[in-house]
Amino acid sequence: MKKGLFITMEGPDGAGKSTQLEFIKSFLEEKGEKAIFTREPGGTPISEKIRKIILDKNSSDMVPMTEALLYAAARAQLVSQVIKPALERGKIVVCDRFVDSSIVYQGYGRGLGESVNVINDYAVAGCIPDITFLMKLAPNLGKNRIKTENKDRIESENSDFHENVYRGYIELEKRYPDRIVTIDAKGSIEEVSREIGVKLERILKNRNDFQ
Ligand code: TMP
Repeated sequence: MKKGLFITMEGPDGAGKSTQLEFIKSFLEEKGEKAIFTREPGGTPISEKIRKIILDKNSSDMVPMTEALLYAAARAQLVSQVIKPALERGKIVVCDRFVDSSIVYQGYGRGLGESVNVINDYAVAGCIPDITFLMKLAPNLGKNRIKTENKDRIESENSDFHENVYRGYIELEKRYPDRIVTIDAKGSIEEVSREIGVKLERILKNRNDFQ
């Protein structure tokens, strides 16, 4: 049986993750790979309930530590109920956001720093992505791609928050050059998909060559 492959998709709000996840889905289907697609926060009934609480605009008095713990709680459930079992069965798992989002949004954006790593070490229980696509887009560009009325509680944060999130991603990119594959998200949908396709092809080839 093939070893599982854990791919995550990251990036600031408005970078075009959802569109490119659709591309990845059809790309993998064409290759005959049966991947499992999931998302954070969410992906299990319990985690989806937690998502509603976190992103609700009425939760405006939520303190940063509560937010960080709720993301971690949703993650713990998703890891043990979906991600770990699938990887153990040799599946490819593609997750829309994962622990990097907590490190940058809660660690850098909310200023919680290292405590976010500590909490999440428990939540992920050793389950670390093999590859992370980082859709890199400066926050001032991402902001214009989301309609104000559609913004959730986090997306509605001020520009300082989103600048810090972006700074966090740049730090992670430097810290994990082997895992993080940066994608220039400024281009057209087709250009970005082409770049992801080339990189994904290489990742799948490596996986097949070593098994
Ligand atoms: P989404 O819009 O990509 O579905 O993500 C929901 C929002 O939650 C998005 O603004 C990023 C934020 N988020 C965090 O702040 N911390 C996390 O750990 C995750 C997974 C998402």
